[in-house]
Order: sequence, then C-alpha cells, then structure tokens
Amino acid sequence: MNKIYVNPSLMCADQLHMYDEITDLLACGADLLHIDVMDGCFVPNIQLGVSLMEAIRKSFDAPLDIHLMINSPGDKLGFFPIRPGDWVSIHYETDRHPARTAEKIRALGCKALLALDPETPLSACADVADCFDGLLIMTVDPGYAGQKLIPGIIGKIRRARELLPDKIIEADGNVSFENAEMMKAAGADALVCGSSSLFSGKYTRKKATEILGRII
Ligand code: DX5
Ligand code: ZN
Repeated sequence: MNKIYVNPSLMCADQLHMYDEITDLLACGADLLHIDVMDGCFVPNIQLGVSLMEAIRKSFDAPLDIHLMINSPGDKLGFFPIRPGDWVSIHYETDRHPARTAEKIRALGCKALLALDPETPLSACADVADCFDGLLIMTVDPGYAGQKLIPGIIGKIRRARELLPDKIIEADGNVSFENAEMMKAAGADALVCGSSSLFSGKYTRKKATEILGRII
C-alpha cells in the first residue's frame, strides 16, 4: 500500500504553544510540518514567517513542507532556512518561470512542488509538470484555514494523478476525515491536515491522528 504523508498545517496550531504542538504532532507520527507562508499580496493574509521556521529548525529535525503563497518565490528562496529533505511548493500563479524555480529548489536537495489554485487548470502546468516532484492541489482558495472544499475539486485530484502517476499529489484545504478518504481514493498521497481534522478542537492530536490513520 502506498504511503500517505500526513502533513499538519502549523498555521492551524496553537501559536502560543508551538513547541508543544510540534512535539505532540511528531510523537503522533506526523511526516512533514506544513508551513503556510503568506505575503499579503498574492493572498489577502499574512502568515508564518522566517523567525518561526528558524526557531523550529533549532529544536526539531523534522522536514518542512513549505507552502509559499508569495509573489516571485524564485527570487526569495534564500530568505528561508530551507534544508535538504524539505518540500517547497511555489504557486504557478506567482512565478513567471516555474521550471527555473523548480531547478533552484531541487539544487537545495528538496522536492519541488507546483501549487495550483482551484481555478488554475491542470492544462496550464502540464508542460512543466515534469520539472517538479509533484503538485499541491489547493482544494480551497489559498489564504485562510477553515474554508470548505470547493465542489468538484476532488475530480481535479483524480485528473492530476492520471496526469502524473508517479509524482506527489498533495491536497491542501478542508482535509476533514470524510474528505481525506475521498482525496486518497482520488489519488492524493499527501494530505495537509488543518482545522478540519488534526486541529478541529474535537479531539486530542493523538486521537485525531488515530482516526485519520484508520481512514487513510
Ligand atoms: C490555506 C493553507 C492551508 C490551510 C489548511 O491557504 O494553504 O494549509 O492552513 O487549513 P484547513 O484544514 O482549515 O483548510
Ligand atoms: Zn498550505
């Protein structure tokens, strides 16, 4: 059975107790720590900055799943404490030369993922998809946690898997327990788990991870 990566979305964690949150999540078997970086330009929100990433690097060896919701990401990779083994996602909508940026990310020893807004068709990136290690399929409009899945977007996950049978297909947004099952069935092999599952407040991180583990 193929591995499904469970990547907790740290913007949904308790920001005042981040050390304990990460310790707990890693103890529960989290794979990569999803870091939503937002610049307030590409998305109408500002989130998770360099100092948090640097603090995490000082205390934890876990790989980061860095989701850059920023304009011109290819010029800004040096801002971040990126390490070999990280995943770095750039948005197709923010980079004039995504293939060139993918090359820069891979040169850092990382996996390069191309993130697509819900409205961006797979056809837009099909010609450069091979330059990447996978796609990050936004199942909500980027910028905020707590949104609901865009109807029909599960079909995009399925088509992405058909297009790229051997690459990472990560789903990001409203990954609830119910949606996680459909996303996995559609071909996602990485799930960004935020306020709809791991951080719903209904269960401990351990219990939520167990429920998720039974589903996927
Ligand atoms: C939204 C971010 C997601 C978000 C997920 O722009 O990319 O990672 O934090 O949160 P939920 O699970 O609440 O959609
Ligand atoms: Zn994200």
